[in-house]
Amino acid sequence: MASGMHDQIVSAAARLRAGGVVAFPTETVYGLGADISNPSAVRRIFEIKRRPVDHPLIVHFADAARLQYWAEEVPEAAWQLAECFWPGPLTLILPRSRHVPPDVTGGQDLVGLRIPDHPIALALLNELGSEKALAAPSANRFGRVSPTTAAHVQEELGHAVDMILDGGACKIGLESTIVGFNGQTATILRPGGVSLAALAEVLHGGIILPQANNPTVRVPGALASHYAPATPLEVWPTGSLWQRVHELAAQERRVVVLGWSEPDSISPESSSTFYFPMPREAAAYGSQLYATLRRFDHERFDYLLVEAPPADPTWLAVADRLQRASCTPFDKFQSR
Ligand code: TXA
Ligand code: MG
Repeated sequence: MASGMHDQIVSAAARLRAGGVVAFPTETVYGLGADISNPSAVRRIFEIKRRPVDHPLIVHFADAARLQYWAEEVPEAAWQLAECFWPGPLTLILPRSRHVPPDVTGGQDLVGLRIPDHPIALALLNELGSEKALAAPSANRFGRVSPTTAAHVQEELGHAVDMILDGGACKIGLESTIVGFNGQTATILRPGGVSLAALAEVLHGGIILPQANNPTVRVPGALASHYAPATPLEVWPTGSLWQRVHELAAQERRVVVLGWSEPDSISPESSSTFYFPMPREAAAYGSQLYATLRRFDHERFDYLLVEAPPADPTWLAVADRLQRASCTPFDKFQSR
């Protein structure tokens, strides 16, 4: 790590100790961090994000051996996942210990815990000290697209935060996989950076897929309107995408099409239509999705039309975020 960055981390840790709010990079998306033991700093996170105070924050820490310090009870399945995937894009929902104040968890007895896999995030946590942890939701306004570069944080929240640590573009670009437990049974509450296949392998298949409505835990990311750009976004299967493009072009709407099945930029349908080729591979697509949505949000198109991703489980996290970003029905992509 460059020495300039080391100095910035030392000063970021000092700000956090003084009750400040610091944005920092992780391998998934940028987080908005506050010391969980400082109630006014935690309150500022909710204010800056304009997030309802009953929506729980994820607690980030650095040392896996401290899992039982932050969680009251750790089922064997959770230990196995922590061992295999931490540091990494996995959040475990566990009963909170008395070291996690209830304002951090929105009053719930469960806490989301994660060790991020990013040198700057880990250095910041280590600089703070192992008895500390950072509450860090994604560094965006509630309901909007998560930031994957420091510039995204700057444009959306720059005026409101004390400091932004710039670690470049996030490698994964989509939020962590969230896993909850019922006894030894693990349930995916939000698909993300760790794939279903990888989880199933570690738990020998004992994993339950994302559920639309899980009454036992509240995950605001499960709201249909979450992760949304300001421009109306529609998701269409490959077979009906171009029909929709023609329709909108005929109405002289300015349309950008995000497709993956055409290898290159293809000639536009009309002067008001722009085709943007997305990666054909799920991880690469995921890493670019939020930055692409932000970019086209700025270019004042009337519609963002997105080609539905392949049904393959490797696309689960991308499909999930597209469904949430879409103004069309939540549970299935439109078909004609
Ligand atoms: O990748 C990530 O997880 C990023 C980076 C910064 O670590 N963080 C992130 O935080 O996405 P946020 O707050 O934007 O989304 C956290 C999700 C929310 O949907 C929240 O409800 C859920 O995690 N969550 C956190 N604690 C929970 C709990 N105790 N019970 C149920 N869901 C919880
Ligand atoms: Mg978020």
